[in-house]
Amino acid sequence: MKPLLFSLYAEPSLLNSLAQALEAEVASMEHREFPDGETYMRITTKCDQRSAIILANFHQPNSKFLPLVFLCENLRELGIESITLICPYLPYMRQDIKFHEGEAVTSRFFSKLLNQQVDRLLTIDPHLHRYHSLDQIYTMETHTLQANPLIADWIRNNVEDALIVGPDSESEQWAASVAEMVGCPYLILEKHRFGDKNVSVSAPNAQDHANLTPILIDDIISTGRTMIRTAEALVSEGLKKPICIGVHALFSDDAYGKMLEAPIAKILSCNTVPHSSNSIDITPLIANTLNP
Ligand code: R5P
Repeated sequence: MKPLLFSLYAEPSLLNSLAQALEAEVASMEHREFPDGETYMRITTKCDQRSAIILANFHQPNSKFLPLVFLCENLRELGIESITLICPYLPYMRQDIKFHEGEAVTSRFFSKLLNQQVDRLLTIDPHLHRYHSLDQIYTMETHTLQANPLIADWIRNNVEDALIVGPDSESEQWAASVAEMVGCPYLILEKHRFGDKNVSVSAPNAQDHANLTPILIDDIISTGRTMIRTAEALVSEGLKKPICIGVHALFSDDAYGKMLEAPIAKILSCNTVPHSSNSIDITPLIANTLNP
């Protein structure tokens, strides 16, 4: 029997393309809030002895997590055999250490809650910095997919003279692998963060690449300050305005507007988080993993 595909705040176009690629049946579910903010949820598709796939958009996760718990609990009661969560953007990965005494390592606490509900997790480019693998905090079966091949395809098809730029050492994992796939050079810069919106980036040795088109690659664009300061540093060293590619387009507060005002030629993202900058479709990545 076809798996049942449920949407939890997912973008309809991604839901439909996944349903087609996975040959899944989109389940029928009513999900709304009562006037006091509590959740009402009703599943009207027969679930008994079927497998469920939930496509969840977990940008701004706090208010979305409780509905996920209700959905999973309800599915189990209705006889679902297994639950796979496709969470293209996996939140709560950046606090992976106590920077200060008394801080909550929310990545561990979040994974503990998810482990209780779901059998299998698929996600794209989770922020693995001090963790080397999701298995360090997730006990369920996990699949970590990478958008790099899709990003490299976009660059090959659109830019002839690319220079891949990673704003900091954490981004080297993406920058180096994309550069190898495209067959072009890459450069890693130095970033210092002093606060959420207070970032400085220096670009020593960038002048050597003044004839190339810089393409900034990062996993997350949140306040946009990493991309903006990197673009400014490159332009001040005599390079062209860069193209910025983020896997996950979080764009908090005024981030997108600020980036549009910055010396940036183009802003692109994958459709892991719904946003007008989405230009790179992740459907094939997920379909190739679930339906090899
Ligand atoms: C850092 O750890 C991440 O890889 C990104 O560089 C960071 O999240 C970007 O944040 P923002 O857009 O707020 O500078």
